[in-house]
Amino acid sequence: MSAQPAPVDDGFPGFALVCRVDDLAPGTAAQANVDGVLVAMVRDSEGGIHALDDRCTHADVSLSEGEVDGCTLECWLHGSRFDVRTGDPSGPPATVPVAVYPVRIDGDDVYVNTRGAAPPTDPLTDPRGHPS
Ligand code: FES
Repeated sequence: MSAQPAPVDDGFPGFALVCRVDDLAPGTAAQANVDGVLVAMVRDSEGGIHALDDRCTHADVSLSEGEVDGCTLECWLHGSRFDVRTGDPSGPPATVPVAVYPVRIDGDDVYVNTRGAAPPTDPLTDPRGHPS
């Protein structure tokens, strides 16, 4: 997703316009830069749109390059699966959730708010997320 989001303040303070709904086909993920934060934009198989930090908590790889299956996003490197609604990993090797950002849909426009969210865990300094 190459378009830079533009911060907006048209009823959704703190949210940035990221893409249009049709930019994300069901069952796919794409990377977006939202206010300087790399985000994995995910459209689950039922059409729901989610925004997660685009860094696996097991190691520093892009989750948006992984596979979407239902409401999970599978890391391409070691296969941990994250619930796109909560960020929780469902199995090892990742044990630390990824940050999930609020999403708002206005017509065909998709907005994400990365401000005020807890910073993602650094897998290189957090022993719970460090590769074994
Ligand atoms: S880097 Fe994602 S599971 Fe290992």
